[in-house]
Amino acid sequence: MNKIIVFDTTLRDGEQSPGASLDIKEKVQIARQLKLLNVDIIEAGFPIASEGDFEAVKAISKTIKGVTIAALARAVEADIKRAAEALAEANKSRIHIFLATSEIHRNFKLGKAKKEIIKMAVKSIKFAKGFTDNIEFSPEDATRTEYEFLAEVVEAVIDAGATTVNIPDTVGFTVPEQYGELITSLKSNVRNIDKAVISVHCHNDLGLATANSLAAIKAGAKQVECTVNGIGERAGNAAMEEIVMALKTRIEYFNMDSNINTKEITATSKLVSGLTGLRVQRNKAIVGGNAFSHQSGVHQDGIIKERSTYEVMNPENIGLQSTSLVLGKLSGRNAFKERINKLGYELTKIELDHAFKQFKLLADKKKDIFDEDLEALVQDEKIEVPHIFELECHNISCGPVPTAGVRVRIGKDKIVENASTGDGPIDALFKAIDLSTGISAKLIDYNIRGITGGKDALGEINIEVEANNKIIKGKAVSTDITEGSGKAYLNAINKIAANLNIKIG
Ligand code: KIV
Ligand code: ZN
Repeated sequence: MNKIIVFDTTLRDGEQSPGASLDIKEKVQIARQLKLLNVDIIEAGFPIASEGDFEAVKAISKTIKGVTIAALARAVEADIKRAAEALAEANKSRIHIFLATSEIHRNFKLGKAKKEIIKMAVKSIKFAKGFTDNIEFSPEDATRTEYEFLAEVVEAVIDAGATTVNIPDTVGFTVPEQYGELITSLKSNVRNIDKAVISVHCHNDLGLATANSLAAIKAGAKQVECTVNGIGERAGNAAMEEIVMALKTRIEYFNMDSNINTKEITATSKLVSGLTGLRVQRNKAIVGGNAFSHQSGVHQDGIIKERSTYEVMNPENIGLQSTSLVLGKLSGRNAFKERINKLGYELTKIELDHAFKQFKLLADKKKDIFDEDLEALVQDEKIEVPHIFELECHNISCGPVPTAGVRVRIGKDKIVENASTGDGPIDALFKAIDLSTGISAKLIDYNIRGITGGKDALGEINIEVEANNKIIKGKAVSTDITEGSGKAYLNAINKIAANLNIKIG
């Protein structure tokens, strides 16, 4: 099987992301993880750019063995010398030289004619050869360079000794078909192209970095430059995980794989996002939080029956535990039951019916239902408390005189309504409930705990009341803590009523 060379530039182009800055220790930590991921080349930095970059390339060269370490340099001697110095302790190293070739860059940035550009490029490669044989050359802004001139530069740098020629889409300007054609024509028109590896390097300004990279690979590029999570200048670079998984998933189309240990993808993505502070958007391909989550009932049902109905990759292949069915208002009974069973609960049909009803009520108030929410629901289901009194609705006013009104259903169809004032809103609520049930209990303890995070989190209310010289516990969960308090209180009152053998109906 053909293997693409994965050139990871997370620590160089990726670190150029606005807002991302890594210290040396963090860069070494990421490099260690990139080694576990089994990338072929780690571009560790741009040593002339800063003391920190120099030290980071040096530390990575010293510590990370068995992978090629690359350092970036402009086509000038000082840069190349500094890169070589930083790479001195690497057992496999590469100097990566870049020089802009497009008319815009020649005229506005460099103020140099075509001839001078070629001269500079050739001279720099010859100089770099004094340090290593592994030299990459990048004609910066290649995709906006006149084709004839680009081909001329490529031929000249290969003659000078470049072993890899990278064709950067520096500003994310190209489109897949055009980029593929560019690689094809360089392959067929540049006399000495077989003496170098063709590399591609895409930016994501138009959201095409992955598509462009794949089109170039299909056209014969043998090295791809990319970053973890697609971080990088502006809209970022091509995302390593997207390219690698596209090749793996569509191997029959690309006839190309990589050496990447895909099971390390999730861990690498988390490490990079944690250390750079660049969070991964939830719907990001492969590594986004939602990439293997299914919300719609129809999809969840399909996934339960056969995973491949709605997934083109196995999440375990990227180091994720499993697919997640996000339970919410669209989830069906099948998905609900499956998750309950996974959590270790076996409910009778009646319990399941009731729990599913409660789940739907909760889902109307809370967008995502997590395992902790379900456990709270099911545990409620498993506690056998007679439902003599039920809180239908309530309202509370917290002014200078806290007041609560409640409507309580007794048995099947008797409704009573009462209101009361109290020392605080919860005291008023409990007093209004006492008036409705005719049972009064003394509150001993009251505890509230958030079960899940977010503004719509479920709260669990635990109370203890004293009645007839006994301590009775009551418990409820709700997204509304006043409703939960009323329900927890009624849960305790129902136990008292059952003990008193209160007849209803
Ligand atoms: O985008 C670009 O052109 C680069 C070069 C230095 C390869 O990052
Ligand atoms: Zn770049």
